[in-house]
Amino acid sequence: MDRVTVNKVTNGLNGTISVPGDKSISHRAVMFASIANGQSEITGFLKGEDCLSTISCMKQLGVTIREEDDKIIVVGKGVKQLKEPNTILDVGNSGTTIRLLSGILASLPFSSVLIGDDSIAKRPMARVTGPLKMMNATVDGRENGRFTPLFIRGGQLQGVHYVSPIASAQVKSSILLAALNAKGTTTVTEPHRSRDHTERMLKTFGVSVEVDGESVSLKGGQALTAANIAVPGDISSAAFLLVAAAIVNKSEVTITNVGINPTRTGILDVLENMGADIRITDERFYGEEPVANITIKYTQLNATTIAGEIIPRLIDEIPAIAVLATQANGVTVIKDAEELKVKETNRIDTMVHQLKSLGANIEATSDGMKIIGPTPLRGGNVESYGDHRIGMAMALCGLISDGDVKIENTEAIAVSYPNFFEHLNELK
Ligand code: S3P
Repeated sequence: MDRVTVNKVTNGLNGTISVPGDKSISHRAVMFASIANGQSEITGFLKGEDCLSTISCMKQLGVTIREEDDKIIVVGKGVKQLKEPNTILDVGNSGTTIRLLSGILASLPFSSVLIGDDSIAKRPMARVTGPLKMMNATVDGRENGRFTPLFIRGGQLQGVHYVSPIASAQVKSSILLAALNAKGTTTVTEPHRSRDHTERMLKTFGVSVEVDGESVSLKGGQALTAANIAVPGDISSAAFLLVAAAIVNKSEVTITNVGINPTRTGILDVLENMGADIRITDERFYGEEPVANITIKYTQLNATTIAGEIIPRLIDEIPAIAVLATQANGVTVIKDAEELKVKETNRIDTMVHQLKSLGANIEATSDGMKIIGPTPLRGGNVESYGDHRIGMAMALCGLISDGDVKIENTEAIAVSYPNFFEHLNELK
């Protein structure tokens, strides 16, 4: 169990950083290339624990994947070439792996068992097993398919129109992946749009996908053709550096090659609404995904309210935003964010309880939190609870607290940002 002590930065954070590849896009690149026909090359792939779990599952399903000069090479032979795994597929800590892979496996003529770590064992799976069953899939799991281990015996699927009660890209993507091999057309309708990397990347692999407001449709029977993917930097990782610069006086930080897909940029909108000095430059595209450089300069911020359609556009950034709000003038309210309770940890509880212990004025609400700032933070002992984003949020507190912040179980950070502390140190 690793422990890191973070102490106050007095001379600002300054410099230019290129954050690691986007986690959501890295997972999809490996999965889609694995079910495509031909050889695909992936550059900028995130070598974090979660995406490495995806690679190892796809290898167990018979796909040849190798690393060459910082590229991941995937040799796909079409979805039908995937073979029955000899043993259990272990997704580690990765919700994206288990949910998307379930969609792929539901239509293939063999059986598989999927498990993960203690956190995965507590996360809801009915949100994917339910709609997959509606498509005629044979899927089960503990408590009637609500939890892992999941058991899947693939078979012929039928297209559906699924109206999802939650805005979840994992649910949407799982259904769309199953739909590729189902009879007829499948449509997924969400209450708000979730991240759309699946829709964009399927197009890159030659699949035709129709998007109409909050609905996405595709026709079954479409094959994927190999493609080369350049993965943008992860805005969810960049968010921790943006918030660091926004709370540490005398900072100016530039982050290069960051994905700015509009379904992910809620954090930029929030920073702007709070009065941050932020500049987006050099906008361009990596395939279907927009990227840019982002520069932020320290300035005193004001509180804001975060609710409704913006929530899925910044759901992973809320731990960082909670720290930011402790330093802003006024009352920041985060609502409509019940989904935080079913992430790697219950992020409302883990953030509120730990920020309070460091002196923040913060309360949990039924669907989010309320934070009154600015409040000076003090040192203390905190932990990641095995959740990468909680570990990084706690490190942000250490940068501005009057005493040292000691964080336990920092190894969890390797799930999405293996060189996070190196990058922070480079900026000091
Ligand atoms: C992800 C979607 C989000 C996000 C997760 C990655 C994805 O989850 O929180 O970190 O890659 O599709 P939900 O779709 O369950 O909201």
